[in-house]
Formats: sequence, C-alpha cells, structure tokens
Amino acid sequence: MANTAYIFATMKYLNEQAIAILGGTGDQGLGLALRFAKAGRSVIVGSRKVERAEATAKEVMSLVPGSKVYGFENSRAAQSAPIIFLSIPFESAAITVKAVRKELQPGQILVSMVVPLASSIGDSPVRTIGVHQGSAAELVKSLVPKGVKVVSALQNVSAQGLQSLDEDVECDVVISGPKDGREEVAKLCALIPGLRSVNGGDLSNARVVEEITGLLIGLNIRYRMPTGIGIRFPGLPE
Ligand SMILES: NC(=O)c1ccc[n+]([C@@H]2O[C@H](COP(=O)([O-])OP(=O)(O)OC[C@H]3O[C@@H](n4cnc5c(N)ncnc54)[C@H](OP(=O)(O)O)[C@@H]3O)[C@@H](O)[C@H]2O)c1
Repeated sequence: MANTAYIFATMKYLNEQAIAILGGTGDQGLGLALRFAKAGRSVIVGSRKVERAEATAKEVMSLVPGSKVYGFENSRAAQSAPIIFLSIPFESAAITVKAVRKELQPGQILVSMVVPLASSIGDSPVRTIGVHQGSAAELVKSLVPKGVKVVSALQNVSAQGLQSLDEDVECDVVISGPKDGREEVAKLCALIPGLRSVNGGDLSNARVVEEITGLLIGLNIRYRMPTGIGIRFPGLPE
C-alpha cells in the first residue's frame, strides 16, 4: 500500500489524536506513554521489535485501566500519528530517524527529547558532547524529509517524574522549533499535571536546553534526588 494511503487508513483507525513514541519501550518513552494514556489520549509505543512494543503497551494499559495503547514497530508507529516523539539514546537517534524517514510525511511533527550525553561515547552522563549541527534536535532536523516539523522539548523532564503517576511533574518545558509545531507540543504538555510550556523560540536554542540536562543529572546524583528535579523560570506570564 502507498505510504499516504496507509497513513490515512491507520490514522482513521487510531484517530488523529493518537501520539506515537519511537523508543517508547525505554524509561522516558514509558513515562510519556503513561502520562498521555492517563490524559485519555491514544498512544502508540514504537520499538525495533513489535513484541517489546506490545509488552510496553500492555504494561501501560494495566497501569492506566481503560487506556488505548498500541505496540508497533518504529516504522509503523512513525506512519500512524500526526505527532511523534523521538525517545532514543543519542548514539542511536540518527540511525533510528534514518530507518523511519521514508515513512514521514510533510506536516507531521517530530519531537526530539534526545540529549547528547557524553555517556554516549563512554564518558559521563553529567555533561553533553558537541553536535556538528548544533544540537541533537538540529541533527534530527537535518535528516527528515522537507515539510516535517522538528520540535525540541521535554529534555529536562525526568523519566522517573513522568512515571510517578500520582505526583505532578514539577518542570518548565522549553519548546523550540517552528511556531505551529511548538504550539501543538505545548498542547500536549498541558495534558501532564505540573508541566508548564515555555516558548523556546528557534530550534537552535535546543543546544542550551539539552546541555541543562547534563547539569540536572549531576544535581540529581549529588543531592540524591531519586525522581529527578526539574527547572522553573519564575516571573514568566502564564
Ligand atoms: N531517562 C530520562 O530521564 C530522560 C530525561 C530527559 C530526556 N531523555 C532522553 O530521552 C531519550 C530516551 O531516554 P531513555 O532513558 O528512555 O533511553 P533508553 O531507555 O536507554 O532507551 C530508549 C529506547 O531506545 C531504543 N534503543 C536502545 N538502543 C537502541 C539502538 N542501538 N538502536 C535503536 N534503538 C535503540 C530501545 O527501544 P527498543 O529496544 O524497544 O527498540 C529503548 O527502549 C534519550 O535521548 C535521553 O537523553 C531521557
């Protein structure tokens, strides 16, 4: 079946409200899936292996009774929702985007949560490494077809915080990228209690946001913060 026909057929099945998460089987992806499922949205968990995706989808549905969560292989997940989160370690992010890019359609939004932690090259997770394009998000943008909107967000939100469903997630989310994409992602952040979206402007600002995550990981270690701390920008208008 042609890609376009397939995407519309699948979207119709899952409805346009579905949210896909590539690498949704990992810590951050699971946290996000739980939060969106709890907010009543259909979620598609993506994985390299459909069995792993289905197992995580089952786990989310058992923790959030009544939720609609599907497990797909990453390529199918990328075809199946208007907004897709990329939740893959930096060292595998480019290869994952390359593997799914032929499925991506103009107008889709791809949200990079990727942090180029130095642990990806065997160094420490309390710092980041430089990326030629400027940031992990800009690397992702360099790889997607024209018309796909790349937005960066949620790099400073901890997986443990997302997974603690009984607690609010105390964090501001700096969202960078094209305006219409930023606004759509802000609507999704508003579904998660405690998160507040901050207009992060151009995608080039993703570098600074990604670097903050290394600092946060160091703080979490030094202050022994098991669920992870967030960031706040006091004084901004709501
Ligand atoms: N964890 C956090 O607290 C946190 C906070 C903010 C941002 N982030 C960022 O979010 C992203 C995901 O973090 P995470 O902690 O969830 O990562 P993770 O658990 O280590 O991995 C996420 C998923 O990536 C897939 N993956 C792993 N190795 C791969 C490879 N070689 N090729 C393709 N896919 C691979 C796996 O899915 P399958 O095996 O099912 O394919 C895995 O479940 C990272 O970029 C991280 O920097 C994480």
